[in-house]
Amino acid sequence: MNDFSYLKMQSLIALLGWSALLGGFLYYDVGLARQHMDALARKEARANFNKDQAFRLWATQHGGVYVPINERTLPNPALAQIAERDIQTPSGKKLTLMNPAYMLRQLMEEFSDLYGVKGKITSFKLMNPHNAPDAWEAEAMHQFERGAEEVFEFTDIDGEPYLRLMGAMRVQQGCLKCHGFQGYQLGEVRGGVGISVPMRPYLNELNAAIHQKLLIFGTIWAVGLSVILVWVMLAQRRLREKTAIAAQLQRQHEAIRRANAELTHFANISAHHLMEPTRRLLSYAQRLTGRLNHQIQDDDALLSLKYIEQGATRMRDLIRDIERYLAAGVPRARLQTNHPDIALNDVRRRLSRLIADTGTRIEVLSLFPVYLDLPRLTDLFDVLLGNVLIHAKSDLAPSIRISGERLQSAVRIRIEDNGPGIAEEYRESNCV
Ligand code: HEC
Repeated sequence: MNDFSYLKMQSLIALLGWSALLGGFLYYDVGLARQHMDALARKEARANFNKDQAFRLWATQHGGVYVPINERTLPNPALAQIAERDIQTPSGKKLTLMNPAYMLRQLMEEFSDLYGVKGKITSFKLMNPHNAPDAWEAEAMHQFERGAEEVFEFTDIDGEPYLRLMGAMRVQQGCLKCHGFQGYQLGEVRGGVGISVPMRPYLNELNAAIHQKLLIFGTIWAVGLSVILVWVMLAQRRLREKTAIAAQLQRQHEAIRRANAELTHFANISAHHLMEPTRRLLSYAQRLTGRLNHQIQDDDALLSLKYIEQGATRMRDLIRDIERYLAAGVPRARLQTNHPDIALNDVRRRLSRLIADTGTRIEVLSLFPVYLDLPRLTDLFDVLLGNVLIHAKSDLAPSIRISGERLQSAVRIRIEDNGPGIAEEYRESNCV
């Protein structure tokens, strides 16, 4: 995956993550608002139920209430068994006894028209068939028989949303005046009162709140989105710059590599061409020395010839060193792990006469295998040991100590000698 598609993926993740985070918060917040609405509606239902009960108890404590008879309030046939259901005031005004259920039904009918909260009393044992329970009320009353005191449900009535509460009504002493004949015991469930609270106003409020939240969360989301977009744009620009720099570096690198290759090629050819006259110089100097050695007595001329030969030898060695140096970076055989001892023994065999002549002492401690082709490994010992032998002090037999060390990802070979050492100014240099 390249840097650009990686960035694309990152920005997609940031975008989705941010949206999911805000979406989650919004969902949670709306959930809370809904719970709050439910709690408020339940509270309203309970408040109505309690007020309803307070009225009923008040009326029960008075054994019912006498009110003037008119076309809205006629004597209750269900109270026919009660003595003095209808009475007359001394001035002749006719009064009738209103039982709590009758009173509350009248109250509720008007209340319902005014405020929308509906109330209804019901029971399994009816004195008034008008009070018969519907399926849900019947189920709620079964729950009362099992010990519940109230049952809630969110539901639709005539296509409008309502919260219904059904609360249990238990038989008290005062109830027995009128219900005693039905055979009830004190504390027994006589029936229940259902309260229906219209949910429309609550839902309207909730929707308004949700709209408000959508606006606020939407704004926050948009702000976050712009931050992400700006970040992506900046990152993209940085990436483009980085890519451009990398490409330029690559071009420069290539140019340097080419220049280096040309230079090496040139140096190789030069060394090759220089070697040829040098060899000739050496061989003719040797030939001349051989011929003239016993024929002329001119010491000066012989010395000059010796210097020419020495100079040519030195030049040949130098050119060979240059060739070796140029070839140092290129493997000359299969790259594999070789043991330095093989190369070292080879070099010691080759230099054996010089070693014997100079009385050189060589001490080899344990060496570790290295990953290098054998020719270059051999060259390494050849140059270093040759150096020691060439530069040895004349009054001191050379002594060489070769030791090895294994590092974390490399092998180190250390060659120490008792020669004059490398001059201070060349020590840090790697092309001596
Ligand atoms: C003054 C007499 C009177 C008293 C006191 C009284 N009730 Fe009633 N109650 C009635 C009458 C009459 C009805 C049936 C007619 C109606 O619906 O108005 C009724 C109806 C009911 C109903 C509706 C089911 C049905 O049978 O139609 C319930 C439930 C109920 N009463 C419970 C109680 C409880 C509980 C008490 C005591 C807290 C109580 N009543 C006190 C006279 C009374």
